[in-house]
Amino acid sequence: MKTLDLIGGARPNFMKIAPIVDALTAAQRRGSPLAYRLVHTGQHYDRAMSAAFFDQLGIPEPDVNLEAGSGAQAEQTAQIMVRYERLLANQRPDLCVVVGDVNSTLACSIVARKAGVPVAHVEGGIRSGDWTMPEEINRVVTDAVSNWFFTTSVTANDNLRRAGISSERIFFVGNTMIDTLVKHRPHLRPPPCWDRLGLAASGYLVLTLHRPTNVDDPAKLRAWLQTIQESVRGLPVVFPVHPRTAKNLPSPEDSFPAIHAVEPLGYLEFNYLVQHAKAVITDSGGITEEATVLGVPCLTLRDSTERPETVSVGTNELIGTDPARLRPAMDRLFAGQWKQGGIPEKWDGQAAKRMVEVLEKLLANA
Ligand code: UD1
Repeated sequence: MKTLDLIGGARPNFMKIAPIVDALTAAQRRGSPLAYRLVHTGQHYDRAMSAAFFDQLGIPEPDVNLEAGSGAQAEQTAQIMVRYERLLANQRPDLCVVVGDVNSTLACSIVARKAGVPVAHVEGGIRSGDWTMPEEINRVVTDAVSNWFFTTSVTANDNLRRAGISSERIFFVGNTMIDTLVKHRPHLRPPPCWDRLGLAASGYLVLTLHRPTNVDDPAKLRAWLQTIQESVRGLPVVFPVHPRTAKNLPSPEDSFPAIHAVEPLGYLEFNYLVQHAKAVITDSGGITEEATVLGVPCLTLRDSTERPETVSVGTNELIGTDPARLRPAMDRLFAGQWKQGGIPEKWDGQAAKRMVEVLEKLLANA
């Protein structure tokens, strides 16, 4: 029997681990010797940010919850490291699987490698080149300590090779986040605000903002909301508000009548909104991938992206961080001039299955 730790910590991790759990369970049913321990670091802990996703995506209860909670960058990362190190001292797996680029990814990869546990990084190799993002530092450091890489794109493969990683450690399996979308797409359902706001297909936009550069300064956040309000031609904008953003939010209903702030939504409800929206305005990375697969125009309020195929192949466009640049892009959207977009290679719902096949071979030889 070979055991692996599967690490989840923050909201965007959960849609990446769900299909891995499914694929491992399927492998076990056909007699695979792979067992897993699901470790939740506790980085996200509100029901709406964590448990709701476990329920909707059918992820089993974590075997361990490290309950690290919130904190400044170093504080949060350190809490996770200390707690995960203690866990490994009691029971060491044969492999630690980390996903994405959040602080939990960074913390557990470092601890595992130092404890002599090999590390596999799911979504390895992506790079924005923007070192002001904590996620970019997490990506670079996690990749530096990882043994194996499960990648989502050809660009990620190239980035890793350029960093000196040999091709036999890189496995281009596709995008596990898209596995989740493909599986749940038939079951997406409208959120409660659908009826309350009288929403209709293509008759509204979806907005998400949570990057420190966009939301930590209340004046900047206000400037974005102002520009969005002025450029949506009266259409409602549904704005599920991340807890980080909520702290700095002016009461939008007063100042920005088009913008409807709602609580963070479940997976099925959020992606229903995206699927039927006229467009998505976001500073997230994962949402640009989902919008691409759903074929919905996506305007990204960042200067760079670690997911360039959402721009070169998909429906995404980088607007930048200057609110003045939003208006011309919205003019093109409303003129019906947005590009069509296609689906990037191997974003087909089978990534986790391919990944587990590789893991079985790697661990059989370990
Ligand atoms: C984290 C990830 C980011 C990801 C985002 C998605 C890092 C560096 N960042 O950012 O890549 O896109 O998750 O959500 O790992 N809070 C709550 N309830 C919770 C969780 C957080 O109220 O369940 C509040 C806390 O006050 C906390 C703040 O939100 O201080 C930020 O949480 P944190 O985990 O530090 O970073 P995110 O901004 O969520």
